[in-house]
Amino acid sequence: MLKFDFTTYMDSFIDKNMYNELLEKKEEIYQKFITNNMADWFTKKVDDDVLSKVKVAATKIKETSDVLLVIAIGGSFMGGFAISEIFNNKYKKKDTEVIYIGNSLSSIEMEELLDYLENKQISVNVISKSGTTFEIKTTYNLIKDYMLNKYSLDKVKNRIYITTNNNDGYLKEEADKYGFEKFIIPDGVGGRFCISTPAHLLPMSVNNIDIDKFLSGYYEGKEYFKQAYAYSVIRNVMFRKGKYTENFSVYEPKLYYYTEYIKQGFAESEGKDGKGILPISTINSRDLHSLGQFLQDGNKIVFETVIKADMGTNEKLKEYNNTICDSVITAHYQGNVPNMIIDIGIPTEKVIGEVTMFFMMAAVCSAYLFEVNPFDQPGVENYKDIMRQKINS
Ligand code: PA5
Repeated sequence: MLKFDFTTYMDSFIDKNMYNELLEKKEEIYQKFITNNMADWFTKKVDDDVLSKVKVAATKIKETSDVLLVIAIGGSFMGGFAISEIFNNKYKKKDTEVIYIGNSLSSIEMEELLDYLENKQISVNVISKSGTTFEIKTTYNLIKDYMLNKYSLDKVKNRIYITTNNNDGYLKEEADKYGFEKFIIPDGVGGRFCISTPAHLLPMSVNNIDIDKFLSGYYEGKEYFKQAYAYSVIRNVMFRKGKYTENFSVYEPKLYYYTEYIKQGFAESEGKDGKGILPISTINSRDLHSLGQFLQDGNKIVFETVIKADMGTNEKLKEYNNTICDSVITAHYQGNVPNMIIDIGIPTEKVIGEVTMFFMMAAVCSAYLFEVNPFDQPGVENYKDIMRQKINS
């Protein structure tokens, strides 16, 4: 069960009238949300036959591959990767290693990767809802050529999996042309909201994450809508009081990429039309010795959301880590930096499902409170337009 503490440090920072006024819009915003045609990730459940197909593919990949290459970026990449990082033991070698690529077109990284892959059995899952994203198309073509060099076409057909929309795009054409196994990201689910689709369920499943438990928590997480809305209201009131930056702070390094995932959810959903809160993150104690100075003593544009988690069994270390966390909360409060606390307890798959739904709902409500569309990302298109012109000239 998630525990929220939005009150302890809130009193001196929150304009109660403004807070109550925005709280009253809850039902209006809820209706706007659930009637939006991009809210299928909230209003619908993933089909059982889709889940079975994902599990069969994951088993086959694990039986036949030393490495699964996942080619994806943005919403098609971040959630599944971040969640896998929570459950991965970085010191333990896996029978099937999952490596994410496509986030950059770095030549040196690609060379090192291809070197590493020598003598290994490979499967590939390329994920892009549009099926047209340049970085993904380029990485996919390179890896497809590599696979065709390594295996016969018949074998490659059993080793490349395409996850894309059901209608059009380069990846759909490739799947149809070669007969690669295809998974669908439904039309009513956008990139950063597609955690409950095969885009993430397949790589997570290969990473040995129990996707049934994750999904049960994810759907149960809808019960936290009230808290997600209250959290969005507090963020909005903070912003109106000049707190333009939210720092997501964790004391467990395994949650680092999860904070990246949350940052993406808020930044792409509410950062538009000149509005929005800039999300940043800190992993402590590391960042207490860098950004910590600014947070405590610098420009007072920041408020914080601390995500507490109970991980590991060394009670003494856990006690020290908690003491540091609580001391920082007090110190920052004294330094005019308010904190909200979300305590997720032991992060099982179910709990991660719940908190994921919480943050996705909060991102939507926050965007609506800023009066922007939560489900588009027009700013992401700008660099793509300029790049296309440059590449075609
Ligand atoms: O949230 C989003 O919609 C974006 O982050 C997309 O996921 C990202 O741009 C990648 O798009 P695609 O899956 O079409 O390659």
